[in-house]
Amino acid sequence: MKESRFLVTGAVGCIGAWVVRNLVRQGTPTTAFDLSENKDRLRLIMDQSELEQVTFLQGDITDLEQVKHALRSSGATHVIHLAALQVPFCKANPPLGAAVNVIGTVNLFEAAKAAGIPQIVYASSVAVYGNKERYPEKLIPHDAPLFPLNHYGVFKQANEGTARIYWQDDGIASVGLRPYTVYGPARDQGLTSTPTKAMLAAARGEPYHISFGGSNGFQYADDIAKTFIAAALKPVAGAEVFNIKGSVAHMSEVVAAIEKAAPEVRGKITFEDLLLPFPEGQQDDKLRDWLGEIPYTPLEEGVAQSIALFREALGDGRLS
Ligand SMILES: NC(=O)c1ccc[n+]([C@@H]2O[C@H](COP(=O)([O-])OP(=O)(O)OC[C@H]3O[C@@H](n4cnc5c(N)ncnc54)[C@H](O)[C@@H]3O)[C@@H](O)[C@H]2O)c1
Repeated sequence: MKESRFLVTGAVGCIGAWVVRNLVRQGTPTTAFDLSENKDRLRLIMDQSELEQVTFLQGDITDLEQVKHALRSSGATHVIHLAALQVPFCKANPPLGAAVNVIGTVNLFEAAKAAGIPQIVYASSVAVYGNKERYPEKLIPHDAPLFPLNHYGVFKQANEGTARIYWQDDGIASVGLRPYTVYGPARDQGLTSTPTKAMLAAARGEPYHISFGGSNGFQYADDIAKTFIAAALKPVAGAEVFNIKGSVAHMSEVVAAIEKAAPEVRGKITFEDLLLPFPEGQQDDKLRDWLGEIPYTPLEEGVAQSIALFREALGDGRLS
């Protein structure tokens, strides 16, 4: 069998960094494609010898020729597509958001077609759904009606459609995963990044006010990275899209987990009583049926691991 070689787009972002770390630790040849050359997130969770095993390719997902070049030169057999602009960036600049998130995804499929890559795994999002009031169930099934309430969610919905058409017309298989609130070291931007910022503040012994509340889904960054890799390695015949559950918890439980790992900030981590425009959580039975065991770190443990890693990084200067 041909050796697996991975191309990861958005590889210096949060989930990308954790995907790259896991691939390197498995000994899988990996090319990291990103517009940004800033490797701080990777340095936070990987050592120098691990970083040296990665091939870095700076490029723009909105430029088809650059994406084609990335797939050709990397010799990729597997692709994980994470490059995107998150909710606030899409809101601030919808045309750029559409270019990166929608055209970028079309480019990736087009380049995969040219390179003969049989399957793409890409990040969709819980943002394809509407807010909590729209659904009778607390945990919504994978086939609940989509009703995105921001540009970002509309762009993700478009990507799910793009994937479906590339399967229909060109036989390129795909798996879209819909994370919710990804947390853990390297999660430093985006609408749902404030719980992780609170963990970093706690590691510093400082107060922090989380920007939203209510009950939401949470996925530890290492778990979600492992799930993307497992999905890439498992062949699928179709354009599948899966909900991801992780932990469904009220923000008060996140705060309790932070206070347990960092008792010195007890009473100093607070949250806004504001609901996200998403459902309370997602059912993941369809993903379980297909993938089997899903990597899962309980919330309390993921929060404790995050704070421990932040403390280490503050101690040795990886974080200032
Ligand atoms: N973090 C979450 O909670 C979450 C939840 C649901 C879905 N997602 C999706 O998962 C994926 C990864 O999210 P993340 O948290 O790692 O985001 P991130 O913002 O940390 O990383 C995104 C990366 O994409 C890169 N990028 C932006 N524009 C680019 C371009 N034109 N060409 C190439 N690269 C470009 C950025 O430089 C960045 O490194 C995204 O598709 C995101 O929408 C994330």
